[in-house]
Amino acid sequence: MGVAKGAKSVVPAPGAEAVDEAFGGKLAAVLETLGATGAEGEVTKLPAAGDLKAPVVVAVGLGTAPAKGDAYDNETLRRAAGSAARALAGTKKAAFALPLEDAEAAAAVAEGALLGAYAFTAYRSNGAQGTKKGAKSAKGGDSASAPLAEITLTGGKPRDKEFKAAAERAQALAAEINRARDLINMPPNDLNPKSFAAEAQAAAKEFGLKVEVLDEKALKKGGYGGLLGVGQGADAPPRLVRLAYTHPKAAKTLALVGKGITYDSGGISLKPAGHNETMKCDMSGAAAVFATVTAAARLGLEVNVTGWLALAENMPSGNAVRPGDVLTMYSGKTVEVLNTDAEGRLVLADALTRASEESPDAIVDVATLTGAMVLALGNRTFGIMANDEAFRTTLHEIAEEVGEQSWPMPMPAELRKGMDSPVADIANMGERMGGGLVAGLFLKEFVGEGISWAHLDIAGPAFHEGAPFGYTHKGGTGSSVRTLVRLAERTASGDLG
Ligand code: BES
Ligand code: MN
Ligand code: ZN
Repeated sequence: MGVAKGAKSVVPAPGAEAVDEAFGGKLAAVLETLGATGAEGEVTKLPAAGDLKAPVVVAVGLGTAPAKGDAYDNETLRRAAGSAARALAGTKKAAFALPLEDAEAAAAVAEGALLGAYAFTAYRSNGAQGTKKGAKSAKGGDSASAPLAEITLTGGKPRDKEFKAAAERAQALAAEINRARDLINMPPNDLNPKSFAAEAQAAAKEFGLKVEVLDEKALKKGGYGGLLGVGQGADAPPRLVRLAYTHPKAAKTLALVGKGITYDSGGISLKPAGHNETMKCDMSGAAAVFATVTAAARLGLEVNVTGWLALAENMPSGNAVRPGDVLTMYSGKTVEVLNTDAEGRLVLADALTRASEESPDAIVDVATLTGAMVLALGNRTFGIMANDEAFRTTLHEIAEEVGEQSWPMPMPAELRKGMDSPVADIANMGERMGGGLVAGLFLKEFVGEGISWAHLDIAGPAFHEGAPFGYTHKGGTGSSVRTLVRLAERTASGDLG
């Protein structure tokens, strides 16, 4: 149930009527005595009273109550449900009695609850059952940290078609976001370009998708200099995966390109200690793209969604690409590698050119691309750049709609000259100032003429290192999946123009 900050005291939120009744109408007073303030994310557990079936009631803060007649914001509900679900880890089942004004609110509560009920435990030797199937580790035991297993929503209109559809959509979406989280959390000694590609092949089989994997031989034959250059220092060679969902009635095709650096050591331009501990997360873009394609399949969207996973491991070795090397990219352009740690743009460039060949209606790339974007926007907001201002605005609005924090970023033309190279067509690095924008300008040069393209730099929100909050756990977050799925839905319904 929800509890909000009222004018004078805390107020039980709509949906909590039965609980309040069981407490003889004194729920607000009981909660206040227990110190509840209604602040967002606050969790208060109390033993149930009256004839409630559940043994425990969890009151979760919703912040200031909305003005009379206004509904709670969906992201507030999503986070509240997530906080409650996290607080209920170790519990078998729970009923969520939060305000369900409409089907969208029900979807938000379901999403928050399902995303909150997540744990990555595949590598714990006391092996609480996580969501990762078939991981190589001990099984059994430790139910205390096992995520909440069964979730029901109370209230709303469960028999209503819209509510049913919303709940089903939330389930598919959360399952796929949790798939992305699992991939991101998987340690880089187990997830490399080859095993990542195998995951895509398995999913393709499960969902009836078309999948093609270019291995190092095929990449060489095709002239994918960016992917090969970045991957050449690693023992595990690079891969380019094309994972395609098609619908017979689709009028549009959306291409999604994900940065899939399964580990970013920086290469010869090695990252110092303190900067490499979380770099298994550098494939979060590819994980988001993967999850979006499978989500589109689960939802049966009337749109074609082609995912491109640009997979490589960035390692230093005697065979690694050096600062000063020149690579010939898939597009034919030459790139002087000045910093081997600016590897994401190299693998993405090849995938963007390849994706452009199929003339999709739009391309969106997703990448943990630059530390500069984290400096600019912080840890929870992704940056959006585009060669088409309307498309950038659309993505920003969609992200807002689905409760993901984002901000539109410019592509100042004057930053291009910083990437002029004395020997090649372009260098992979430019001015330090505005580094996130420089990276975007680099990518833009590899997008096909006349194709609407946007770039999401998720380096901040992809991986959460702080204390868990709402439905966000430590580790991979699944950032941008909700935005991309909604984009696919909007493309399917034809309201993107
Ligand atoms: N993967 C990193 C960016 C990153 C930083 C992701 C922090 C997540 C959290 C990327 O490959 C990188 O190293 N970028 C360099 C680019 C620079 C060398 C031009 C950076 O941002 O420092
Ligand atoms: Mn790097
Ligand atoms: Zn990187």
